[in-house]
Amino acid sequence: MSINVRGPARASAAACRNARLVPPHSAPFGPVDAAPRRAAQQPVGGGVGLRGTSFYYAILSPDPTRTVKQRTLGTSTLTVSAVGLGCMGMSDFYGTPDENQAIKTLQRALDRGLTFFDSADIYGPFTNEKLLGRVLDAHRHRVTIATKFGIVRDEAGEMHGLNGRPSYVKTACEDSLQRLGVDTIDLYYLHRVDPEVPIEHTVGAMGRLVEEGKVRHLGLSEVAADTLRRANEEHSITALQTEYSLWSRDPEDDILPTCRELGIGFVPYSPLGRGFLTGRFQSPEDLPEDDWRRHNPRFQGENFQKNLDLVAEVNRLADAKDVTPAQLALAWVLHQGDDIVPIPGTTDPDHLDENIAALDVSLSEEELARIDEIAPQGVAAGDRYPDMSTVNR
Ligand SMILES: NC(=O)c1ccc[n+]([C@@H]2O[C@H](COP(=O)([O-])OP(=O)(O)OC[C@H]3O[C@@H](n4cnc5c(N)ncnc54)[C@H](OP(=O)(O)O)[C@@H]3O)[C@@H](O)[C@H]2O)c1
Repeated sequence: MSINVRGPARASAAACRNARLVPPHSAPFGPVDAAPRRAAQQPVGGGVGLRGTSFYYAILSPDPTRTVKQRTLGTSTLTVSAVGLGCMGMSDFYGTPDENQAIKTLQRALDRGLTFFDSADIYGPFTNEKLLGRVLDAHRHRVTIATKFGIVRDEAGEMHGLNGRPSYVKTACEDSLQRLGVDTIDLYYLHRVDPEVPIEHTVGAMGRLVEEGKVRHLGLSEVAADTLRRANEEHSITALQTEYSLWSRDPEDDILPTCRELGIGFVPYSPLGRGFLTGRFQSPEDLPEDDWRRHNPRFQGENFQKNLDLVAEVNRLADAKDVTPAQLALAWVLHQGDDIVPIPGTTDPDHLDENIAALDVSLSEEELARIDEIAPQGVAAGDRYPDMSTVNR
């Protein structure tokens, strides 16, 4: 069954903006009802260590998390909003960051009930964790903060390879805790596997962080199925994060089935093809000069032109359903299983609303089959990265 979400998406955005003007005690869930109090006592997949005004905020505010569908990552106890928010572009890689715009987007996400925020130490570098720490502080009881380590970058932004050594695991975590201003990181990922260090050693050190209460759940990013299996033997892994979208379907071969076999949740990053699948780019020149995507093979030369053919098909399907291409792309990811929680990135509150509305888009068997025809595995021209040697190890 299919529905039209363009209208409702706008309606829900307006309702949400209005709701922000209502004092907490007269908000939709009635005066100081029991649910927010429960939310304060039983974090929604969230952390520990209520600080400052957080507790009082929790008591007095409505709980928007009740308005967004939730999903649980694999067989873990980590339940989050069925769509998360990728925060990388707020601080790095996609043109010059605008912090005010980023804060507005984070606040909209909180208002709309998103609970799953994705960062990494290298985003900024380092400023994205600080930004999240500041904005999410008062909401700590109900948000899940995910961050990553393992790619070494200096303050000037220069990359210095990978590091998965146990001593580095410990200091990287301490540094992230400090920047985020939290006692515990809810989900701590190894960003890339260090080929010099057996995965058991890295994950063993990550497991010790769990024992010490500094981390609640462990994740891995961009690892091969065998590595995931070995890591999960060493310590249970809650989530695997890798690129997955209409133009990056490789995980369907081994990684996704392995996650399912092992009860590990799957977190697709760049589910909108780094924005390409939304149809907003018609030529590489549409990207800002300082945008990292200019170095991405899929955004270059002939590849770019060929990939526009896919976007044209996605547009056609989206138009036929009266949804946006971004919503179609996200709905497709969400239809690949209840164990999947995509983290679309945006710095725009209206795009955020649009993306949340994708949760209400139903795709029929016929529509899914048609999507398979237009976007089979390998459809994209060009590699996902200029240097693919650091992924799928
Ligand atoms: N583990 C890893 O190695 C890794 C690698 C890359 C990313 N990630 C994580 O995954 C997150 C998401 O990936 P991503 O940001 O690379 O790519 P993405 O989510 O596929 O796309 C983000 C791009 O799409 C645009 N966009 C979002 N919603 C839109 C909408 N409704 N209409 C039009 N444009 C829209 C954004 O621009 P606006 O800001 O203008 O909306 C941005 O340019 C990142 O933020 C990061 O947290 C992880």
